[in-house]
Amino acid sequence: MPPMHDPTDVQALKLRAAQRALELVEPGMSVGLGSGSTATLWIQLLGQRVRDHGLKIKAIASSEDSEHLGRSFGIPIVTFEDCPRLDLTVDGADEIAPGLALIKGGGGKLLREKIVAGATESFVIVADGSKIVNKLGKAALPVEVIPIAAPLIRRSLERLGFTVALRRSQNGSPYITDEGNLLFDCSGMVIDDPPALAAKLDTTVGLVEHGLFLNMASLALIATEDGLLERTS
Ligand code: 5RP
Repeated sequence: MPPMHDPTDVQALKLRAAQRALELVEPGMSVGLGSGSTATLWIQLLGQRVRDHGLKIKAIASSEDSEHLGRSFGIPIVTFEDCPRLDLTVDGADEIAPGLALIKGGGGKLLREKIVAGATESFVIVADGSKIVNKLGKAALPVEVIPIAAPLIRRSLERLGFTVALRRSQNGSPYITDEGNLLFDCSGMVIDDPPALAAKLDTTVGLVEHGLFLNMASLALIATEDGLLERTS
């Protein structure tokens, strides 16, 4: 059985990683705001710097929730029209494997997260130590699909060996992404060759995006009970 962790301890670890990431922000930077509970802590810390200390930055958010949170602190939110390149994006991850191969999208925001990460010079992951794995696949791999193609894509994913579950909202209805698509959570398989799997998924028509983030992160700040790990790619 994995060790049981007090949720407040995990929260403290997430905060530690978020605090370290805040040190990477410099005045004048354009930053990407990630999504999820760890990225939320970072946005709150960043927002306090903007609101209370006059830090001058501009930001693009990877989800409507993060955009709303950023605006609530007065962080100027811009678009890729105004700002085609970001200096720094800080985001969470569901799994972190060697080489900073990641699974993301547990919060359902993987499409915008990948767009924002892809437009960023320095893509930094913040996480607690529970996210470290030797091989990806313990967490489900989220896959965003165009609704009309969902039955076809479910079959393709099952043929690859995955157990496929349609993500649902708390009220039981299908979860709809910020872009109006459906999400499949694909589980039951260790991902031995992430680049080969990503290549197959990338060429599946109707599959909008998947949660494999490969060769994107340059740094992971991972807070563990033994200290903060700083892993580079
Ligand atoms: C959302 C994500 C999150 O960053 C990921 O799920 C990690 O979240 P948390 O920090 O809450 O553990 O990819 O789509």
